[in-house]
Amino acid sequence: MASTTPNTKHPKLIAWVKEMTDLCQPDRVLWCDGSEAEAETLYGEMCKSGMLTKLNPAKRPNSYLALSDASDVARVEDRTFICSETKEQAGPTNNWMAPAAMRETLNPLFRGSMRGRTMYVIPFSMGPLGSPISQIGVELSDSPYVVVNMKIMTRMGEGALKVLGDSGEFVRCVHTVGMPLAAGQADVKWPCNKDTKYIVHYPETREIWSYGSGYGGNALLGKKCFALRIASTMGHREGWLAEHMLILGVESPEGKKTYVSAAFPSACGKTNFAMLIPPPALAGTAGSKGWKITTIGDDIAWIKPGADGRLYAINPEAGFFGVAPGTSTRTNPNAMASMAKNTIFTNVALTEDGDVWWEDLTETPPANLTDWTGQAWTPEIAKTSGRKAAHPNARFTAPASQCPCLDANAEDPAGVPISAFIFGGRRPDTIPLVYQANSWEHGVYVAATTGSETTAAAVGAVGVVRRDPMAMLPFAGYNMGDYFTHWLKVGKTAGAKAPKVFGVNWFRKNAQGKYAWPGFGENMRVLKWIVGRVEGTTGGVETPIGTMPTYADLDFKGLDFTPAQFADVTAIDAEKWKREVETSGEFFAKFEGRAPKEFAGVQTAILDRFAAAVASTSGKKISAPTATV
Ligand code: OXD
Ligand code: MN
Repeated sequence: MASTTPNTKHPKLIAWVKEMTDLCQPDRVLWCDGSEAEAETLYGEMCKSGMLTKLNPAKRPNSYLALSDASDVARVEDRTFICSETKEQAGPTNNWMAPAAMRETLNPLFRGSMRGRTMYVIPFSMGPLGSPISQIGVELSDSPYVVVNMKIMTRMGEGALKVLGDSGEFVRCVHTVGMPLAAGQADVKWPCNKDTKYIVHYPETREIWSYGSGYGGNALLGKKCFALRIASTMGHREGWLAEHMLILGVESPEGKKTYVSAAFPSACGKTNFAMLIPPPALAGTAGSKGWKITTIGDDIAWIKPGADGRLYAINPEAGFFGVAPGTSTRTNPNAMASMAKNTIFTNVALTEDGDVWWEDLTETPPANLTDWTGQAWTPEIAKTSGRKAAHPNARFTAPASQCPCLDANAEDPAGVPISAFIFGGRRPDTIPLVYQANSWEHGVYVAATTGSETTAAAVGAVGVVRRDPMAMLPFAGYNMGDYFTHWLKVGKTAGAKAPKVFGVNWFRKNAQGKYAWPGFGENMRVLKWIVGRVEGTTGGVETPIGTMPTYADLDFKGLDFTPAQFADVTAIDAEKWKREVETSGEFFAKFEGRAPKEFAGVQTAILDRFAAAVASTSGKKISAPTATV
């Protein structure tokens, strides 16, 4: 149970908690032990205060619903800062302020910010307890919602304190909702500061200060703030990678396991890919073994060179903080099973029988719901007003241990060896279904040029490729130019043992503007080819952009997919690629000479190969993968 006296002898930790208590002036300090009893008490208190609603235990055992303030529903990238010593260290893609100036801004905000509230001391391990790849953090937060979420998302409590011992290093994370209470002032259901928010990282001192938001990545500081922004700077110094990547295992019918890690910008189905179920024809039947996917993580990977020179990955998280809308038994049965119990839902709708609902959970929406804003909702209201029942960024926080396809090595402190990296975005044209980079340098270039084309759903120009290198644009804690160079270095050190690199695109459209690839479980066919390439057992054809499968190289068993359809998802157009190379070059120019010079070499080689291919087809458009070069 949480106690008012420290449950550690760590002098620096105790001194820091005292310093922060003096600054934030909470009514009391509670040291969390991560026990079930502690969580029970907190859930009870939050149900009483109105912050949580307990769901019907017959439908969703031990699960809760939180509805946030309408102003506090997502990460706030414009309020997120990397306060490295110099602006150049943060780079052109991060907001920066000098550390001293930021401390001068934050200190008055944090002074007295927790008045009327409890400060919870939350020790946590990112990664399996005691793994050489794991790291310890301690979050001080005045939000009980943060405590119970951190219990699911990290290894939280006594175990982490034990690993920390009396003198271990830890990342200091301070979080306040930024809404102190005067004596006798009633609290609101979702406290936050509607006007002022700061998500601040000090990479040199490994500190995170978060003010004004109670939501997700702004408040659960182990996730994006620590596991990506701070950890990426640690990895840069120490020779490892902290990446916005899922990790999955591909098991062949012979029982051979290959681990791959993949990065996709948001809204590309990362959690679905991490928990993919192969189509029946590849999954095998009762009598015959087939292909199987197992999950290590759906969002973040920490990757370190092992003693054998290979790169080993762990998932630093212990749960899934997934986007609920769009998730269903059709799109991701494993995610649905993971959240069947012991789950916190945020900003989804409540059904009349005390369960949850969101858009596309079922084909037919329930007749009556309470929507995420707490108002009555019916399908008719949705039709006339367009009001959604769940917020588009509504989330489920579910323990990874409940995932039916969790990999047997998910808790292995040594991590799993990564054989392939996959990068992809949402591109209606240009990028083919799958291609393999020719070398590590080329692979890092493929990763660095990842992006999605803007659609009418976002403000701004439509049809422009928004680059999101390695899907890390909002998460790299240092200059991305240096980050690319670091990637090159890590691969160079691994040498021949470096993972093979692949680009994919599940979102190619045909001439009719329809998705040309079925996606979801059918992506297993692409994974099978990738594993074959790693093993050296599958064919491919060299093209100007790398090696691609021919129609015969992909396994289409059980899928009616014609060579013409295959051409729709694999054609590469010299003109479009010229533009692709140009716009990538414009993006790299932003880094003012810090993007690796190797990228220019890769670009020249791509253009030269296109020129040769076009010449060899008498100036006709080349259409890979039938055209070899
Ligand atoms: C996430 C994100 O929440 O990438 O995982 O935005
Ligand atoms: Mn993410």
